[in-house]
Parts: sequence; structure tokens; C-alpha cells
Amino acid sequence: MTLRIGLIGIGTMGRNHTRILTEQVPGAEVALICDPSAENVAQLRAELPGIPLADNGDALIESDKVDAVIVASPDYTHAQYAMACLRAGKPVLCEKPLAETAAQCRDLIAAEKATGRDLLQVGFMRRFDPAYRQLRAALEDQLMGNPYALRCIHRNARAPSFFTGNMAITNAMVHEFDVLRWLLGAEITAVRAAIPDRAGQDPVLASARLSTGQIAEIEVFMNAGYGYDIRTEVLAERGVLEMARPAKLTEGHGGQLRHDQFHDFTERFADAYRVMLTEWVRAIVTSRSLPACAARGIDGLQSVLASEAGVRALTSGHWEAVVLPPAMTFSDQNRNTS
Ligand SMILES: NC(=O)c1ccc[n+]([C@@H]2O[C@H](COP(=O)([O-])OP(=O)(O)OC[C@H]3O[C@@H](n4cnc5c(N)ncnc54)[C@H](O)[C@@H]3O)[C@@H](O)[C@H]2O)c1
Repeated sequence: MTLRIGLIGIGTMGRNHTRILTEQVPGAEVALICDPSAENVAQLRAELPGIPLADNGDALIESDKVDAVIVASPDYTHAQYAMACLRAGKPVLCEKPLAETAAQCRDLIAAEKATGRDLLQVGFMRRFDPAYRQLRAALEDQLMGNPYALRCIHRNARAPSFFTGNMAITNAMVHEFDVLRWLLGAEITAVRAAIPDRAGQDPVLASARLSTGQIAEIEVFMNAGYGYDIRTEVLAERGVLEMARPAKLTEGHGGQLRHDQFHDFTERFADAYRVMLTEWVRAIVTSRSLPACAARGIDGLQSVLASEAGVRALTSGHWEAVVLPPAMTFSDQNRNTS
């Protein structure tokens, strides 16, 4: 069976998903796209001709040519489109963050529950990345004993043009919050964050406390200049674990060692996006469910709650508590998932 997918928003991320679905994912067909930017539509059609265009996101979701939807439009549109998908009873893979506010995330979780089906996945693709999976397996096997502390580095060459306000936390650091929860099977209980005096919105230096006792130091530097660089290191009882970095060319010449860097997330996480989309399509087609390790509505909510605490901490200068709904902790929701 072919899964007919509608793609809302075909900027950087939407085009990347469309390419991968069209060229690399068995059983997937991009059946309909929509985007208010004529320029972005033309660019996609130049690369992948023939994909029909819907008038707008709501028409795409309602179309009987679409079985499932990917939302890759700006953050402020996610809640509205994800809700329309749930009301139409269609599986939706919504880019991160799930919504702009925790209240919107709660509404989406309630709407999904009302359908009685597994429909809502958040695009936290690091859970599907081979290097992150290796690190998680090492932690589960207690390779270095108990983890004490983690260090996460998230650097982009340049922030996207749409970055404003606190998006270094709400749009970028939200990845680190989700992956910390997933690596440790724990909840983030408090966040502290600061921006150096001479900087603008960036770099943000933050710390997160985990319900299992660890502290994570997190750096997000959206304008690092040299490339896209994601690192995670664990300090543990018997040593350290550092996430493997996918190989890039190293040139030794004239007394220098030069390492190529990833340009951006589409390059560094190419495998993760492919695996995420492949597992999403397969799970819907074969079992009308979601992949075991998928980020669900609850994960979208918990990561937004951590972001909200991080934004508050920028102003207060203190640790800000992440208040978690008791019936919705990581261990309750994700037990036995790989
Ligand atoms: N998971 C990841 O690794 C990852 C990486 C980058 C971006 N993202 C997320 O993907 C989303 C898109 O990011 P991007 O980098 O592609 O941004 P982008 O600006 O390149 O693309 C956004 C597209 O959405 C279109 N759009 C604007 N308003 C719309 C609307 N109301 N309905 C439909 N389309 C609309 C724009 O015209 C544009 O083409 C963001 O939410 C971002 O957080 C996720």
C-alpha cells in the first residue's frame, strides 16, 4: 500500500522531507503540497516536477487525496495545522516545536486522545539518528556505570532569517531538551539560562536538572560561523561517553590538519530524517500506529515546558522549575520503547 502524504510548508525542511520521501522511502508518495510562497513552490517544482498544489493548509488536510500530513511550516502554525489533522482523523508528523505554548500542546494531546488512535508524532529526528542511538544503547547498558553529567553543544553556522526573540531556546534548544529526556529516560525538572552581556540573542548557555539526578550543560550558538556542529558527552562513574560524529574528510597538509564541517542539519542528520520518515510511513501502513521511539504529544509538551522554563530563567537569572503533569512523566509514557 502507498501512503499518500500532504506536505504543508516547503521551505528548507519541507523540501528536504519531500526529496527524502520521493527518493528514499518505500511506500511513500508526496501527493499534495502547499505553501504561500510562489518562489518556494517554483523551486520545489523545478527539482521534483508534477506534485499537485493545494490552495492552503486546511484544504490539503481535508483533501481525499491525502492519507497523512507533514507540517513543516513556521512554528506559530504548528498547533493549528496539527489540530486540523487530528480532527480529520489523519496521522500528522509535526515539525518541532509541537506548538508555541504548553497550553496548545495539552489541547493537542487531548484531541489525539479523543480519537482513540496514535496519530500525533513530533519531528524530533535525533531519536532516529544512528550516533544518538549508539549513545543511548551505551547508557542503557551502563557501559560507563551511572551517568553524572552531560554536555550538549548545538552550533549552527548562521541562524535562519526567521529567528527572532528567544528562538535559540524555543526552536533550537528544544532539540536538546527532548534528546536529554530520551537518552536518560528522565524528565527535566529545572532550567537555568543566560546570554553573555555583549551578545544579542545568542549564544545561550543553559543548564538542566534531570529527575534522575544528572545536570546537563547546554550551549546553543546559532551564529557560530564555521558550520553545523552537534555534540553530546556524558561524564559517568567509570569514564566518559562521547557521541560518535559522522565521518567527514580530514586533510593533513603543510603543518595543518583541516576537518570538513557539516553545512547544516539536512547534511548532519540526513540518516536520521530518512530513518524517521521510513519508520513513520511503515508504522502507519503496517500497524496504523507510530514508531516505537517516536516523540509523541507528551514529548512535545515536556520539551515546550522545558523551553518555557528556559525563557523565564533568562529574565529571572535563577533556576526555573519545570512543572510536570504527574500522570504524564517520561517513564509512564515511554516505558518499553526503544
Ligand atoms: N527537525 C529539524 O531538524 C528541523 C530543522 C529545521 C527546521 N525545523 C522546523 O521546520 C519548520 C520549518 O522550518 P524551515 O527551516 O523549513 O523554515 P522555512 O522558512 O525555510 O520554511 C517555512 C515554509 O513555510 C511556508 N509557510 C509560511 N506560512 C505558512 C502557512 N501558514 N502555511 C503553510 N506554509 C507556510 C513558508 O513560505 C516557507 O516556505 C519550523 O517549525 C522549524 O522549527 C525542524
